[in-house]
Amino acid sequence: MDHLISPHGSRLKNLLVDHDRAAEIRERSRDWRSVDLGPRQLCDLELLINGGYSPLDGYLGAADHQSVCSGMRLANGVFWPIPVVLNIPDELADTLAAGDFLALRDGEGVMIAALRVDECFDRDLDAEISAIFGTADRSNLGVAQYLHRTRRWAAAGRVEALQLPVHFDYTELRRTPADLRRLFSSLGWRQVLSFQTHRTVHRSQQAMMVEAARNAGANILIHPVVGLDQPGDSDHYTRIRCYQAVLREFPESSACLNLLPLAMRGGSGREALLHAIVNKNYGATHLMVDFDGSGAVLDTLGEPAYQQDEAAQIISEHDADLGVEMVQTRETVFLTDRGQFVASAEAPPDGRVLRLTGDEVRQRLDDGLELPDWYTFEAVASELEHRHPARRDQGFTVFLTGLSGSGKSTIANVLRVKLLELGGRGVTLLDGDLVRANLSSELGFSKEHRDLNIRRIGFVASEITRAGGVAICAPIAPYDVVRREVREMVQPCGGFVLVHVATPLEVCEARDRKGMYAKARAGIIKEFTGISDPYEVPEDAHVVIDTSDLAPLAAASEILLYLAREGYISATDVG
Ligand code: PPS
Repeated sequence: MDHLISPHGSRLKNLLVDHDRAAEIRERSRDWRSVDLGPRQLCDLELLINGGYSPLDGYLGAADHQSVCSGMRLANGVFWPIPVVLNIPDELADTLAAGDFLALRDGEGVMIAALRVDECFDRDLDAEISAIFGTADRSNLGVAQYLHRTRRWAAAGRVEALQLPVHFDYTELRRTPADLRRLFSSLGWRQVLSFQTHRTVHRSQQAMMVEAARNAGANILIHPVVGLDQPGDSDHYTRIRCYQAVLREFPESSACLNLLPLAMRGGSGREALLHAIVNKNYGATHLMVDFDGSGAVLDTLGEPAYQQDEAAQIISEHDADLGVEMVQTRETVFLTDRGQFVASAEAPPDGRVLRLTGDEVRQRLDDGLELPDWYTFEAVASELEHRHPARRDQGFTVFLTGLSGSGKSTIANVLRVKLLELGGRGVTLLDGDLVRANLSSELGFSKEHRDLNIRRIGFVASEITRAGGVAICAPIAPYDVVRREVREMVQPCGGFVLVHVATPLEVCEARDRKGMYAKARAGIIKEFTGISDPYEVPEDAHVVIDTSDLAPLAAASEILLYLAREGYISATDVG
């Protein structure tokens, strides 16, 4: 199954089996057990199958694992920086024997590959996380997240693939390493600079690529990491359309674009080595990683992973093993006199320079301001402006939390009326009682049920927000963690405003409109919030309102003022 393609050198694996073997595997797999792979595992599998992880042809066993963790070499001495393992559940590990086969399936149950199990092993997780993260400290965020998605047991062995993982988006941009090497050969590209990026490319990065490619005598591969992008995530499509627009800015046939099915681990320098190997397998001779202003590359979840300095250092130390050269990126500013980008360190002290941080770009989009021409290309700006409308055109959620009787429903009702008066957006009220009568009618008031109730509200609110409407939610929502979950759910779709209706318990109890506090005090109603059940006061509320001495209209006005300050509604509407 080996595949050798010159002139770009090294041997590439191709784990796809031929038609007859595929038929045999399908036939025999009826008796096999399956492992359903998550998105990260599918990325590893795709890179194993297509040769991106060459020379690996399967998942590491105990000896390779130990040897890679301690010395960055497989047991046979071949250089390999990071363990690539297949996590399996304990129950499966208990009954799996060498020589068994496992069917590796995607989230839809489609069988992608067969694994012939050589062994099952209980691995040394401390060694593994030290290798990937450069620390075994389990309180480190990256380590904690890694351990959260990792299991003790791993199944090792060779992979025989029936097909590549299925993608329906941009199939023409999802070339395998062999395809890409073939393309480079046919174009006569002998030196290729891969620009590995996880974010939108603007003029400064384009200028950097052009300069680096010129210095290296190379052509350019724009290589965005898309492993964990989801098929339904519209940011993914915006990002790719932006790359396609940037590609048109390069001279004819000097650059190409390919999607890299890689999931970042959030690791330290060794992960940079893995990226170097993968890019080399895709035909690159030079690698430039798109570090942000602080010199860090961000992992797929937006957390900083390795730093440019440590990547450059470790890659140069392993030059002989890698055969790919790392090219440094530099922070640049736009020098108006010259009309070009220069390294910030080289900008003349008296020159007028322009720069925009990522936060400033987001702010401009929120405010409905155009992105300047010196910063980005017109086609990229219009893609971004289309995807991120100004706040006045975005949907939003107002999430009121507070004790029973604090005034949430009354404020929510007034707010709904006032927003409807303004017109423009549809308004949906998800009041506590209303939701419990419909969406959550089977739920009680245990912590689990309350959390589930709030998650359901959050899901509905996020969909309304995504569609450009307003969701006003008014449950008690006593627990902080799940309130934050809702925020995370809604924020990518539009605005999120947390309002704490902080009317004190004594006032709520004195009102006792529904007579429930009396019953709770008498023990007739159990687990009553504020009496016999907790209420965690939010530390992250955008607006805090105590209705003890505040009329409903005045309370709603405070929220409207906040919405106007943040740009979701016009200031003249509340004035
Ligand atoms: S939660 O905690 O957010 O899921 O609660 P929520 O869906 O907002 O429901 C609160 C309303 O249910 C009534 N009720 C109780 N509240 C608190 N604790 C207990 N045990 C309870 N049992 C019934 C109560 O009337 C709440 O209505 P509001 O409108 O908040 O007064």
